[in-house]
Amino acid sequence: MDVLDKIKAPVATELEQFGEAFRRTLYSDNPLLEQAVEHLLKGPGKQLRPLLVLLSARMMGQVDDKVIQVALALEMLHTASLVHDDVVDESDRRRGLPSMNAFLGNQAAVLAGDFILSKALECAAQTGDVRVVRHIAQLGQSLADGELRQLENKDSDVLSEAVYFDIISRKTASLFSVCARLGALAAGGADADAERLAQFGKLIGICFQLRDDVFDYGTAEIGKPVGNDMKEGKLTLPAIYAVKHSDDTSMHELAMKVRHREATADEIQKLIDFTISEGGLDYAAWHMKDMQGMADGLIDDTRDASITEALHLLASFVAERVF
Ligand code: IPE
Ligand code: IPE
Ligand code: MG
Ligand code: MG
Ligand code: MG
Repeated sequence: MDVLDKIKAPVATELEQFGEAFRRTLYSDNPLLEQAVEHLLKGPGKQLRPLLVLLSARMMGQVDDKVIQVALALEMLHTASLVHDDVVDESDRRRGLPSMNAFLGNQAAVLAGDFILSKALECAAQTGDVRVVRHIAQLGQSLADGELRQLENKDSDVLSEAVYFDIISRKTASLFSVCARLGALAAGGADADAERLAQFGKLIGICFQLRDDVFDYGTAEIGKPVGNDMKEGKLTLPAIYAVKHSDDTSMHELAMKVRHREATADEIQKLIDFTISEGGLDYAAWHMKDMQGMADGLIDDTRDASITEALHLLASFVAERVF
């Protein structure tokens, strides 16, 4: 059994229930949407977000239909954001398959993303809990806000770790945080317990994005393109650290050229090599370890051991994962 299966084990039945409901909910008699959904279902991804909803719910109570609707809403919102992200990033592969934009073109991908996003709202409404609807509506805004700030940041001449962390908190960690919070609340957990789990979710969400950004410097097969970030002018923590901690001003100039999408492939490679030799990847790994430690410290170990163990494993998985 691999680590991910081990993490999923305590909620395996509930995850299956979730998977069936996901397929059922996305069903449509629109021919283009049918193609889009069939394509999506071929690459379901790691399903970490519904997993976090279910584990948080089980920590506080039982998984009932309301919890499943929360998990559906959040995975739908995530899916829609990926479909739109691949259009924005001009990325042609996702989860080992052609991205939606590569498969059906940008126009259909944007519209299919809108459809899935609206399904997310319907699932949220289905819970009958206005807290769920409010958190999910605010989350959608946070995701778009983060992506927009990232876009705007490409025009800036300043390299800032604080800005980087702020962007990834909004575009990625917020989703993990809401998964943990709403899982707990939907299962009847107290506000204070949900808040603690939300903090846990935020930390592992930051780790998740840091790891994703580190992948982009390598050559490992992760089911989507690597080297895409710099190609689209995106400088992530490893490069920000390396350039800022070097006295070589030519590297700052090169970084700005990359950010403004004026660099050649050789120049991009030069910045990647420089980032690695200056310890940029080690620096990101140090941050992930630090956050993982903080996340571990937030888990209430007096609760059901099978659940707390899975949450500890999840915290290490997001930081150490190889896919
Ligand atoms: C994750 O995309 C998106 C990011 C926030 C980096 P994946 O293609 O890895 O999708 P999941 O996480 O398995 O759903
Ligand atoms: C995360 O950023 C995507 C979202 C939060 C929607 P990336 O653009 O790095 O994600 P990948 O690498 O395409 O999955
Ligand atoms: Mg992307
Ligand atoms: Mg992106
Ligand atoms: Mg990425």
